[in-house]
Formats: sequence, C-alpha cells, structure tokens
Amino acid sequence: MARIPDAFIDELLARTDIVEVVGARVPLKRQGKEYSACCPFHDERSPSFTVSPTKQFYHCFGCGAHGTALSFLMNYDRLEFLDAVEELARRNGMEVPRDTQQRNENNDTRDLFGALEAAARFFQRQLETSDKAKAYLDGRGVDAGTRTQFMIGYAPDGFSALKDALGTDERRMKLLDRAGLFSKNDRGHVYDKFRDRVMFPIHDRRGRVIAFGGRVLQKDDGPKYLNSPETALFHKGRELYGLWQVRQANQKVARLIVVEGYMDVVSLFQYGVKEAVATLGTATTPEHAELLFRNAPDVYFCFDGDAAGQRAAWRALESVLPRMKDGRQAFFLFLPDGEDPDTIVRQEGAAGFDARLQQATPLSQFFFDELSKEINLSTLDGKARLAERARPLLAQIPDGAFGDLMRQRLTEITGVGAARAPAGTASQGGTTSRRPASGGANKPSLVRSIILRLLHKPSLALAIESSHGFSGLRQPGIDLLLELMVIVQARPDITTGALLEHFAEREELNALQKLAMQDIPGDEDSWRTELLDAAVQLEKQTLQQRLDELQAKQRSMGLDEADKYELRALLQARIGRH
Ligand code: UTP
Ligand code: MN
Repeated sequence: MARIPDAFIDELLARTDIVEVVGARVPLKRQGKEYSACCPFHDERSPSFTVSPTKQFYHCFGCGAHGTALSFLMNYDRLEFLDAVEELARRNGMEVPRDTQQRNENNDTRDLFGALEAAARFFQRQLETSDKAKAYLDGRGVDAGTRTQFMIGYAPDGFSALKDALGTDERRMKLLDRAGLFSKNDRGHVYDKFRDRVMFPIHDRRGRVIAFGGRVLQKDDGPKYLNSPETALFHKGRELYGLWQVRQANQKVARLIVVEGYMDVVSLFQYGVKEAVATLGTATTPEHAELLFRNAPDVYFCFDGDAAGQRAAWRALESVLPRMKDGRQAFFLFLPDGEDPDTIVRQEGAAGFDARLQQATPLSQFFFDELSKEINLSTLDGKARLAERARPLLAQIPDGAFGDLMRQRLTEITGVGAARAPAGTASQGGTTSRRPASGGANKPSLVRSIILRLLHKPSLALAIESSHGFSGLRQPGIDLLLELMVIVQARPDITTGALLEHFAEREELNALQKLAMQDIPGDEDSWRTELLDAAVQLEKQTLQQRLDELQAKQRSMGLDEADKYELRALLQARIGRH
C-alpha cells in the first residue's frame, strides 16, 4: 500500500475544519466551545456526540466513537484510509504526494492494472464468440445484464489464446505473467493459465480488476474453480468477490451477506439481493471481518448446513468476535443439505431468501449453541466446562454492551461469571473503586501529567527547552512523550486531533484518546507552569538515575576518568539545583 507521508496528513488536517466535514453530514448544534449532535454511530435520543473545533476531533460519550476528520470520513462514509485522504485532499485542492519511489511503483502497478483490464476485456470478447460458453451461462440462467455487470467472460481452449492476443512484446508478456495469467511447465514453456473456463473477474474496492476465478464448463475437467495466484495486487485473504458491485448498487450498505461461491453472488444479484459477497475459496479471515464491518453494520454469514459449513461458520465467528463493537451485528444462516444461495434464490426468489435471513441465528446464540455441544449443562462439571471454553473467547470482544450481555448470558447459563478482558479496561468505570486508598502508588505520574497537557495544547511542548534533559530516563511513557515533542516541534500549530492521527494504528492510541478527552482544571498559563514544573522534576530524576548508576559502578568495578568527571559534574549540578 502506498504510504502517505505523515507531514502530508498533518497539512491536510491543518487545512481541514472538522466542524465543516461533520456538519455537512450531521446537523450540529453549538454548545459553548463545542458542537453537539445525536451520535451518527449509534442509536440515541439525547445528544452525546461532540465535535471540538479547537482540538479538531469528535467524541461520543455514549458509544466511545472518536477520531479526526479523517476517521470520521472513514466511519461515516465508509471509506478506506487512502480514499478518505483523497477526499479531504480534493476538498482542499491538494494533491496527494507520492515520493519518487512510489511514483515508479505506481507506474508499475498502473501497467499491471492495465494488463488485467485488457485480459478481462479479452475474455469478455471471447464469450461473445463462444457458443458453448454462452450455452453454459444460459443453462445456469445468468442473464445478459448480469454478465455485463460482473464482466463475466470466457477463456478459450488451447494453450495460447491470451498469450497470442495480448503478449505481443516482451514487456506485455512480463506484465501478464506478473498479473498471474500464465503457467510454466518443467521446460520453462509459458502458456495460458486459464483455458476453457468461464471467467469471473475479481475487482478491488475501486472497481479495478485484480484477479480472476475461472470455472470449468463440464464436470471432471480439472478443479471446478481455478483462482489467480497471489500477486502484487491480489491477496485472496483480503478480497471479497462482489464488494465493488455491492457498493455500486447501494448508496448505503445496510447489510452484507457472505456466501461461498461466485455463482451465489451473481445469482443473488440478478434476483435483486444486491448485498452478497464471497470469500475466494478461503475461510473468513480477520481482514475479511474488518472489511465487512467497514462496509456495513450487519453481516450475515451463509453456509451449507453440513459439518463443513458448521466449521466454516465457527472460523468466521472467531474472526468477527474481536471486532464486535457496539452497533455491529453478525448472523449465521445454514442452508438445507444440497442447496446453496444460488439454488435457493432461484427457487424462492429474493423474498424467500430474505425470509431465511430474517430467521438467521444471531452470533450470540450460535456461540453458546456451538460451545455447549456435547456438554451436559445439567451437571456442574458441564457448566464449568462451558465457562472455561467461553472465557478466552469472550475476553476478545471489545468493551461495550455486547460484551457485557454475552458475559451476562454465560452467567445465566452456568451460574459462573466471566471476568472482563484484563488489558486496557482498568481505567474504565466500575473498576476504579478497587484502587487502594493510599494515594502514593497511584498518583498520576509526572510523564502522564505532561502528556495530558500536551494533548490539550500541543504547542506547550515548545516551552520545554530541550528534551535531552530527561531522554535517558527509564520510566513508562518517556518514549511516547519524546515522540510527541518531536512531532510538535516539527509542526508547532498541530491540533490535538492531528497529533492523535500520528498514532492512528498504534496501541497507544486508546490511552492517548482518553487523556485528550479528560477535563483538566486551569487554563493554558497554569498548564504551562505545571508542565514545566513536571519537566524539571523529570530532569532531576534523570540526574539521580545516572548518579545511582555511577555510584553502583563505583562499588562494583570502579570508575574510569570519564566516569569520575561525569560524577563530579552531576554532584555539582545537583547542588546547583537544590
Ligand atoms: P462449490 O464447488 O461449492 O460450488 O464452490 P458449487 O455451488 O458446487 O458450483 P457452482 O459455483 O454453483 O458452479 C463454491 C466456491 O468455492 C470456491 C469458489 O469460490 C467457488 O465459487 N472453490 C470451489 C474454489 O476456489 N476451488 C474449487 O475447486 C472449488
Ligand atoms: Mn452453486
């Protein structure tokens, strides 16, 4: 993936007003220094969603949604990161930069996209002239509109139809090869990978062809489906067949239906169920789960009713569980033996298929049903075993009502509770009362108090003369603090939101976000004073740390001249400071 320089993101956010971006999509009401609205990310009657023009970020006190103008676009318009960047850049008349290396890479990938597009067109033309391929699609009931919409084609028999038509020079041969369209035999002879197959192009999220699936026309003609190999553009664990068409067909995607096959997606579409996507002959990966929920709040997994279908469903459940934030729902639909969505929708129509979806099993039910299999819940041992199986899985559910309800359900069934996830939740309500009464150990650290103030007013970092005064200090958070200071030094006018954006994919983000939301008494001036006081304390601690080190060395192995010199200087500095 092309990497956009941080400096560009900073500039982009500096030129963007989050109030405008959010305000264009959600009616905002001014309230003091901030704006508020009913949260667009969860159902609510009274507004708990706020947008701060000074900090340039949004936060919902109800569901915890938060972020910058960029993350708002990603979540609200359901854009991918790069698309959100491009959208903001367009609004600001900025051009997304690519450094030289990226430009080369882009030229390369552009050519690769070109080769795949040309191949797709070639296959489409071949379909028009092949009676047997047309007869096959007629037989399967795929109408003309659907063929066009999915760019369905045909790869002719023989070993070099594509190669002869498009591999007209060395460079083109190389591109087709890198696009995964050739095979090579032992003697190094290159030939068409797809032969005598109906071709289903796989599109990326911008509608560019990145790979193919090819189906045999007759049984016993090799593997039923052949997929493109993994290439620079195609990673099958990350792609969903049909997602592009779904996004084209729907303004807003309310639900996605995950099915197993190409033909299932195509038939559902033709019959009016325009929300189906397929994984490409693989289990549902965590990346799939992420992509699914980025595009729709409700996801229906549709599987065969057999044992393999149950196993596939469980894999899907494991992938979605850590992504079940509030507002998201997952369901499982098992079809009768021998049927798939293609056959069902042809027999029962969109309404029939839809009725089945309405009856789909919610994740929570599937979860407990599966875990309870072969367990006798009327015994204590059985209940204990269920609790034991459920706990590690429940711990993966993100904080929120859904996780709470799942744990509550476990208690109902077994009488045994499941602890909340251990990490990252300690600062949340409910657990705070367990703090020891003696203040000492839990007093907020100096580092934390500086970071807290930096997050509220980033430019305060400039008041700290030199970070070197405490850069060697071994204390939690020091590296993070130094990193924040470096960012602000490079960009003194950075807003809180833009600063947080630097940590978009880091585990520190959550903690930083919470600090940024915290109320602190006082104003900019008092914050500066407090921050400088804390910085001085840290410098003292750094000196002390070094003193302790040198004195320990003196006791163990003795000091050399340089050490002695340093020790004297340190002792003098300490006297000077007292
Ligand atoms: P199936 O083999 O279950 O499909 O493959 P089917 O319903 O019997 O046959 P069609 O599709 O209706 O003609 C379902 C999906 O599994 C993947 C493909 O994505 C296919 O659409 N698959 C199947 C492969 O990748 N390779 C194979 O050899 C078979
Ligand atoms: Mn089928």
